[in-house]
Amino acid sequence: MSTEAPPKTYRVESFGCQMNVYDGERMGEMLSERGIAPAADGEDADLVVLNTCHIREKAAEKVYSRVGRLTKAGRKAGKQPLIAVAGCVAQAEGEEIMARSPAVSMVVGPQAYHRLPEMLELAVAGGRATDTDMPAIAKFAALPPRNAGGRKSAPAAFLTIQEGCDKFCTYCVVPYTRGAEISRPFSDLVNEAQKLVEAGAKEITLLGQNVSAWSDEDDKGRAVGLAGLIRALAKVDGLARIRYTTSHPADMDDALIAAHGEIEKLMPFLHLPVQAGSDRVLKAMNRSHTVDSYLRLLERFREARPDLALSGDFIVGFPGETDAEFDETLKLVDAVGYAQAFSFKYSPRPGTPAATMEGQVAMEVMDERLQRLQAALNRDQHAFNQASVGQTCQVLVERKGKHEGQWLGKSPWLQSVWFEGDCAIGDLVQAELMEAGPNSLAGRVLIPAHAT
Ligand code: 5AD
Ligand code: SF4
Repeated sequence: MSTEAPPKTYRVESFGCQMNVYDGERMGEMLSERGIAPAADGEDADLVVLNTCHIREKAAEKVYSRVGRLTKAGRKAGKQPLIAVAGCVAQAEGEEIMARSPAVSMVVGPQAYHRLPEMLELAVAGGRATDTDMPAIAKFAALPPRNAGGRKSAPAAFLTIQEGCDKFCTYCVVPYTRGAEISRPFSDLVNEAQKLVEAGAKEITLLGQNVSAWSDEDDKGRAVGLAGLIRALAKVDGLARIRYTTSHPADMDDALIAAHGEIEKLMPFLHLPVQAGSDRVLKAMNRSHTVDSYLRLLERFREARPDLALSGDFIVGFPGETDAEFDETLKLVDAVGYAQAFSFKYSPRPGTPAATMEGQVAMEVMDERLQRLQAALNRDQHAFNQASVGQTCQVLVERKGKHEGQWLGKSPWLQSVWFEGDCAIGDLVQAELMEAGPNSLAGRVLIPAHAT
């Protein structure tokens, strides 16, 4: 590939989980720091970073097809963009991508993206570079501060506090692509939260593949877990809301349960994946919890915070799952009454134990199960929204709506709330929830932010 002019504009396309959204923002911040501007909507960027997800089906194929479309558009425009593949597909299949796709000049894993600027120099000079090392903590230390150069944050920001997973659920690639569990240091996190708030964040969601396994020592040298970190962050002035995701049922300790009852800034929402409603399937998944232990755990959270909204993840059609076992998943859903949830068809991931298990379930069977499960989850989400009608709560204004004067914000229970009124993005307004749809609610502002 020939020597190129340094890129002036970039676009990061993030797929998959919120951790990728966080990583995508940090890569963008690093590029901005070096004078490369984000491309305007619809504009061809000189540098495109595909920040990929490997968790389910045909991940690599999606990358090749996106690269194909980018090079085709480049031919039309008479200028090829520099293409970097980042994220979990880069980690898992980086070498093949380099071999198969000459248009890709950089492959960078999720723990190595702080090296993107050096790799970019090489790519601009006509070279190609792959970095899928896993130095973990080194990455965070090498990134610019969140408010560098007066950068603004969205009102609802993400903060990665933990990465990697040691749980090895038998269907999951994460322990291989994101590596072993690491916790970022306490003081770095308090510092990053402060910078985010200075940059305009009102709400911070603490992220980790297994966020409840976070641990470190606080500023006084005492051992702290997630609850201790949340307590410390609750003292950050100007930060109004704290959330966290994703947790594993095996790592939820008493302190975290108590925190839900005691810390006002900790929002009444818990995303706690369960995956299936049959103990036999859970065991085959290596989940290290049973249906009963999961339900008892939720009970304790609800005792601490009675208005807690619950969310979960589900997989249908895990190898060997029978109709009767799937019915147990529906039974569990009925018992919990989720406020929202994510559900997926099982997808065999190369290199994971479940991919070679006997009894792979036919696609039509999975389709049918997913439809039934989603019907039940949608029904419960709608019911949860309907039960919220008449409540008064704070709504964090996140963006403008389609019509003049219309806004979209989030309730404490993570529901989308539409309303009209005189406010601005980042305001916390007091609103009454008036009408419920399956995916959102209509609200009415009682007290605008400037009146509080
Ligand atoms: N197939 C289907 N769903 C999966 N998930 C993880 N691995 C797979 C897989 N191989 C789902 C789980 C997890 C969520 C992030 O993605 O439900 O909680
Ligand atoms: Fe994957 Fe299980 Fe770890 Fe979640 S807990 S990231 S599903 S291995």
